[in-house]
Amino acid sequence: TKEQTWSQRFESVLHPAIARFNASIGFDIELIEYDLTGSQAHAQMLAYTGIISPEEGEQLIAGLEQIRQEYHQGNFNPGIDAEDVHFAVERRLTEIVGDVGKKLHTARSRNDQVGTDTRLYLRDRIQEIKSQLREFQTVLLDIAEQHVETLIPGYTHLQRAQPLSLAHHLLAYFQMAQRDWERLGDVYRRVNISPLGCGALAGTTFPIDRHYTAQLLKFDSVYANSLDGVSDRDFAIEFLCAASLIVVHLSRLSEEIILWSSEEFRFVTLKDSCATGSSIMPQKKNPDVPELVRGKTGRVFGHLQAMLVIMKGLPLAYNKDLQEDKEGLFDGVNTVKACLEAMTILLREGLEFRTQRLAEAVTEDFSNATDVADYLAARGVPFREAYNLVGKVVKTSIAAGKLLKDLTLEEWQKLHPAFAADIYEAISPRQVVAARNSYGGTGFAQVTKAILTARAQIAEK
Ligand code: ARG
Repeated sequence: TKEQTWSQRFESVLHPAIARFNASIGFDIELIEYDLTGSQAHAQMLAYTGIISPEEGEQLIAGLEQIRQEYHQGNFNPGIDAEDVHFAVERRLTEIVGDVGKKLHTARSRNDQVGTDTRLYLRDRIQEIKSQLREFQTVLLDIAEQHVETLIPGYTHLQRAQPLSLAHHLLAYFQMAQRDWERLGDVYRRVNISPLGCGALAGTTFPIDRHYTAQLLKFDSVYANSLDGVSDRDFAIEFLCAASLIVVHLSRLSEEIILWSSEEFRFVTLKDSCATGSSIMPQKKNPDVPELVRGKTGRVFGHLQAMLVIMKGLPLAYNKDLQEDKEGLFDGVNTVKACLEAMTILLREGLEFRTQRLAEAVTEDFSNATDVADYLAARGVPFREAYNLVGKVVKTSIAAGKLLKDLTLEEWQKLHPAFAADIYEAISPRQVVAARNSYGGTGFAQVTKAILTARAQIAEK
């Protein structure tokens, strides 16, 4: 006969379909390491406070350790009848250590237990994602260093605006990743609070020591209110929010890489190791990696939205709705990690900037027009007046099929007597970029400094 999960209050077992519907073991097995660690800390506390004997504590801890070994060896595979990872562990523990296993759940509920497990899990994943962000930033910096003096058209409204140092463009993504890294550190502070000992909702009649378990599990502090402790999922929402911003940033970069690799731009070549072909069009080389990254952002946003909706109508304290927090959180974690890994590889070895083509690109447009206006403004002409004058020149040049660099000195001087022979140097793409030497600008001197600052920033782990 099957051992019954519930108390003697229940007379018959669950309908099999309802058992499947209710069970979370199919996905919360992901938490097993954390469940074991949390339970070991709980058992140690029970012994420390004299709620159980020291020998009982040792037996429980050893039994839990044996389950860990079994799991590592692939020999712990609880079925649907276990309902969730917490019951599965407790049941196996009792098989291993006998009746003393039944003492593990003293002064504890699955409600504070699952909250503890989820936080322990997320803590580790946050640290992993932070180090992945560091790798991503390192690759961006490595490429930026090689391309301080490589020019690339800069856009607003996807219209040619002003040329840029390619390094400056890449460093913009470095800054986004830096904020992502810092944001995760901030989220971590609120993940790292222990709900263990909040009990089902109201605390416990036993003389437990919550600070002791918190210390064992390296939590910074404990939840001050037991109702809040068992039903708070802000930390998961905050994480999914930080994760959403990470994928927003990766998706914007993806979109640029997709554009850049198109025949219309031809700014980058995708290497074979990171591109795919077509089943029918033999000439095709497709940017599947950045497209997938861009596509996967939707999942992460969806999980954030789902989590917000799960929470909005929940009365205090625990409700089974909270079981729905896990799959989205896990998938959010896995998706961000996969996207960061793929983008880092793509940047490191899958992408080649076509420097020849980029050098041509910045000479074929009117993106130096601002510099003509600046030239006059620096020589005393009010900027708005200079701006209007240059607008006129652009119009007549377009009509004549010319670029600004093609105008003769007489033509310039007819326009305004302040123009001299140095106008040609002033509007050359290199000079246009070099001259934007304001703090945070694209000037080579600024960019070189920015790279040094960035290198120092990522030394912080
Ligand atoms: N599997 C449950 C979850 O993920 C564990 C907590 C169950 N608590 C309860 N009172 N039913 O939320």
